[in-house]
Amino acid sequence: MPRAAFRARLGAGSARGGKELALASRQLRFVLNGRPVQGEVDPTRSLLDVLRTDFALKGPKYGCGKGQCGACSVLVGGQVARACVLRAGRVAGQEVTTLEGLAPDGRLHPVQQAFIDRQGAQCGYCLNGMVISAVALLRQDPAPDRARVEAALRDNLCRCGTHREIVASVLLASGAQADD
Ligand code: FES
Ligand code: FES
Repeated sequence: MPRAAFRARLGAGSARGGKELALASRQLRFVLNGRPVQGEVDPTRSLLDVLRTDFALKGPKYGCGKGQCGACSVLVGGQVARACVLRAGRVAGQEVTTLEGLAPDGRLHPVQQAFIDRQGAQCGYCLNGMVISAVALLRQDPAPDRARVEAALRDNLCRCGTHREIVASVLLASGAQADD
């Protein structure tokens, strides 16, 4: 995907013509999972929509769509961002990393491996945001204690109630022993 040509997209059921589409779209360039991409896109679309629809990156999930659950999380310039409420135009010139970008060439990131080893998921829907937030935390603090991990993941919601295993997974990834 050296230079993906991503589509500008009209709203579902829209009868607007090509002229309006051209007016609504802008040239957008950013770095996605380490590779420069560019294309015509309506900058008011959510980054989540662009990632999932135009790039077929299904790691970021649509949960609440209101910036409240964390399922859609990505890294923008190394910081956790809620892609459902971030307009695509805001990432111009920035580095965006999705869950897929953590595992180039299929080699899992240590945090991803730890979630497997510690069985840190049930349905897995929240997992994207948990892993993205954990990666950001461990880059800042490679050896966080349990309280720090819990605080970092506090705004990521898990409807399955798997928080205990999730925190243990992050502690495992950090090299700490999770005390059961
Ligand atoms: S889907 Fe983005 S925060 Fe819930
Ligand atoms: S494992 Fe199901 S929402 Fe977290």
